[in-house]
Order: sequence, then structure tokens, then C-alpha cells
Amino acid sequence: MLEETSRRGFLRSVGLAGGAGVMYSAMGALGLAPVPVAGAEPYRAPQESDFRLTGRGRKKVVVLGAGIAGLATAYELGKAGYDCRILEAKNRPGGRNWTARGGTVETDLDGRTQRARFSDGQYMNCGPGRLPQSHVTLDYCRELGVELQPFVNANADAYIYHEDAGPLSGKPMRWRTAKSDVYGYVSELLAKATDQGALDTALTKDDKDRLLAFLQDFGAIKGKADGWKYAGSDRRGYTVEPGAAENAGTVLGPVPSLSDVLASGVGMRFSFELGYDQAMMMFQPVGGMDAIPRALEKAVGRHRIQYEAAATGVANVPGGVEVTWKDAHGSEHAERADFCVVATPPHIAARLRHNLGDAVTGALKTPVPFAVGKIGLEYRRRWWELDDRMYGGVVPTTLDLSNMWFPSYGFQGRRGTVIGYYNYGANAEAYGRLAHEERAKRAVDQGVKIFGDRYRTELDASFSVAWHRTPYLEGGWVGWRDQNGPEYKLLNQAQGNVYFAGDWLSHVIAWQHGAFSSARKVVTDLHTRVMAA
Ligand code: ALA
Repeated sequence: MLEETSRRGFLRSVGLAGGAGVMYSAMGALGLAPVPVAGAEPYRAPQESDFRLTGRGRKKVVVLGAGIAGLATAYELGKAGYDCRILEAKNRPGGRNWTARGGTVETDLDGRTQRARFSDGQYMNCGPGRLPQSHVTLDYCRELGVELQPFVNANADAYIYHEDAGPLSGKPMRWRTAKSDVYGYVSELLAKATDQGALDTALTKDDKDRLLAFLQDFGAIKGKADGWKYAGSDRRGYTVEPGAAENAGTVLGPVPSLSDVLASGVGMRFSFELGYDQAMMMFQPVGGMDAIPRALEKAVGRHRIQYEAAATGVANVPGGVEVTWKDAHGSEHAERADFCVVATPPHIAARLRHNLGDAVTGALKTPVPFAVGKIGLEYRRRWWELDDRMYGGVVPTTLDLSNMWFPSYGFQGRRGTVIGYYNYGANAEAYGRLAHEERAKRAVDQGVKIFGDRYRTELDASFSVAWHRTPYLEGGWVGWRDQNGPEYKLLNQAQGNVYFAGDWLSHVIAWQHGAFSSARKVVTDLHTRVMAA
């Protein structure tokens, strides 16, 4: 996940896993194997009765950070009556789970302040924005009463926009058109090769017949008599929608050549939606992703969270831990507890004064924070629905915007907020260096190339986030070179009475599932230890 390339590799690798899954499910349909269902890992939250039945005393736990990992730790321990207190440096819960609305104010590390001027009901999820079906986050939403709605992560009518990609460059292409042409031509080629005997060592006569039948269906190609030719189909879309009486519609054409389709590179986008954690259905909380931390805050108890409390140190001391923190006025405070769970990003934790040893400091500095940026653009008119009939979806581009997201809420409404860029690495750094107005200008200049002048003229308000420049977070996520290495192992173990938790200590980095899973592991470890003492 660290480098852009390995992130793509990661997405590709989950695409392969999808292939195996499909095969296995097909076997299931034939009655050959049970269809597997991957659920959340078994977890039993500590319970009040654990203490009541054993007569043990409840413990006090200080948690550093009210992001998802910190909140989940306090929530789960709280169920058993642990006396938890969370120290959070910011003035809100959620960490990177953050929703900007009208009035949201944020000052970056460089001292530049932005105030969001979105209209009532308009918002952008600055951090996490989509939830896959398999993630434990959905179980927390159910438990906490957080209502979900679909997140449109794949839309056949959304566009792909590529520049420097042959004769089709610079023309937005709908996903449905791209798939129709790529599947069609690939099917044509494979059908010809199969029919001409190029695969005879790999295929029996029956295999060949079945493969050819599949390719005809999959690629909408002609039959043997017509040379297995791909000549387009209504899967590409229409320029005139079919309608009444003699209106059979006009299919979008002409079909570009095989060479132009290959040069366009659009096929390289398809594996995204095969990714284990990117495949539809996906969800988002109604009204903003921060419904999750807000619900956790309520469940933990607002009185247990100290906001604007920036931790400065943590130490193992006889009988427990001592934590020091600074309040909004700069006054230092110290407090004791039995245990501390550090649920900040690792590079932030690395700056704490502590007595956990140099190996811990070194380990905390090992994962590398990753630059990530997003901009929300509120439009007066939902032109993507009205003009383009595109209801939500992701638009990947080769521009420095990387990905654009069209909103999955407020369909058919008057206004709408588009994620104008969701970028990583060098692109996120480049935008992050700019003042907000310049980021917006650059993003709009780029977007106009795809969507024309309306992208500028109908814009009303904007807000941007550069996670690597956001205080107390300083990164969108982190990457480990090696999650089998000693650093990762060390931080996944208690250091005296101090534990670490976060998505960065999971194999599901950059997802709330990782943060919840890590919190559950730490809670289990800590509680097991308390009960065994
Ligand atoms: N979980 C992040 C996303 O879906 C990385 O984009």
C-alpha cells in the first residue's frame, strides 16, 4: 500500500482473489463445494459479568486518540465497566473519519485556515467514504443504529478520462462503452486463436466449444461464419435512446479500432471493481461518515472524552502508567491509570516522551505516512444527473486529480457536492502545497477538460483536505515495507502496560475495518491479561 505502484499491485492482487472466489462459487452452484462466506473474525467483547463473577476490580484505561481505534477500544472496554478516558488532541471525534459541512473550520500545519461554506444538507467525507459488505464496520453501524445507504462505487454510466493514450485521448468514455469494446475485442481475439487451434494443447474439443460459446456471450461478438468479429452492440450505449413506435434508438458509434482501444488504456481500470474491498455493494452512512464516530462518542459517553488534549508523554510506572498531556491553553496535566492504549498514528506516537525503549521509537518511525488529498466542490445544479444521466460513481482520470467521485446522496435534488479529486502521493503533495483557493482553481481547470465550462460556472463552494498537512494526523494512511518484520510485531504486543491500536497495526490499512479490528485485538489482549492476573 505504500507506493502508488504497490497500491495498484494490491488492487490487482485482490482482483486475482476475486477470480478464485468466482470459480469457487461456481463450483458451489454445481453442488461441488459449499459457497464460502467470510464473516468478521470471532470476537467476544468483555462483559460486566466477567468482573462480577470473579470478584476482580475494574481497571482504569487512558486511550490516546478518539479516532475509530480509540473510540472502539473505549466502547468495547466500557461494556465491561472499565473506567476509560480518551484524550483527543482535536476538538472532535473520528480522526480521519471526518465530514466537512457548512461552518467546518480547519487549520493546516502551515497555519492556513479554511472555512467550509457548503449549503445546508451538503457535505463531503474528507476521509473514509465507502464501506464494503465484508467489513466489521457494518456490524458497528448496525449495533450503534447508524443508518446506511448505497455508495455508488461502480456505475456503467460514469466516465473514464485518459490523456496521452492514443487517438481516443481527451474524450471521456463511459465505463459501459469501455467494457463493451475491451471485452468485445479480447473475445474476438481469443475466439479466433481458439478456433484456429492456437490453444489446442490446453483445451479439449468440448473445452473449445464451451469457451467459444462463453466468448460470444461475454464479448457480444459474431459467430464463426463472421470471423468472430466484434462490431459493437447496444452495450456501448445510445446516442438516441430507444422509445416508442418506430424509434429503435441509435447505438453509439462508430466502434473504435482494436489498436485505438488498446492504446486508450481504459481496460486497465476494470480490475478496480473486482478488488475484494472495492466491489459493489458498498455503503455510506446517511448524512455523512462521521455518524460513526458521533455514535461511538455517545455510546462511550461524552464525559469520558477530553477534547483539545494533546498527549505529550506516556510512561510505565510502578502499578500502571502515567500519561501527560497539554490542554488548549498549553497547561500540562498528568494522570495515572492501570493501562494506556495509544491509538494515534504511529508517526505521531513516535514523538511522545516515553520510557518504552528505543526499539519502540524506531518501530513507530518505520511505517511511512502517505500523502492523500480530497476536494469537495458544491454545484448549484446536478448537471451530471441532468445532462449526463450519471447518478453517482467514480471517474478515474490520468490527470493529477486521479479520481473524482459523484455523490451517492441527494439524487434528483437541486444541489450536489462532487469530490473533485481524490489523489495520493505526488499529486496529493502538489495540491497540498497550494492554498485552498489555488487548489480549487487547479482542480476546476482540470475538471473543465472533462466536463466543460459548467464545471466552473455552476460551482458554488469548495473545501479541501491535505491529510499529510493536517495536525495530529499528518498522513492519509501509512505503509509498512514489511508486516512480518520485528517492528510490526513489537507494536502489536503490550509494552509493559502500554498498548498500540490503529488501522496501521492491521492488514486492512486505510479502512475503518482495520482500526476496529486492531482495537478488538488490543481489548481482547488487555482483558485476557486482567482476568488472568
Ligand atoms: N480505503 C480507501 C479507499 O477506499 C483507501 O479509497
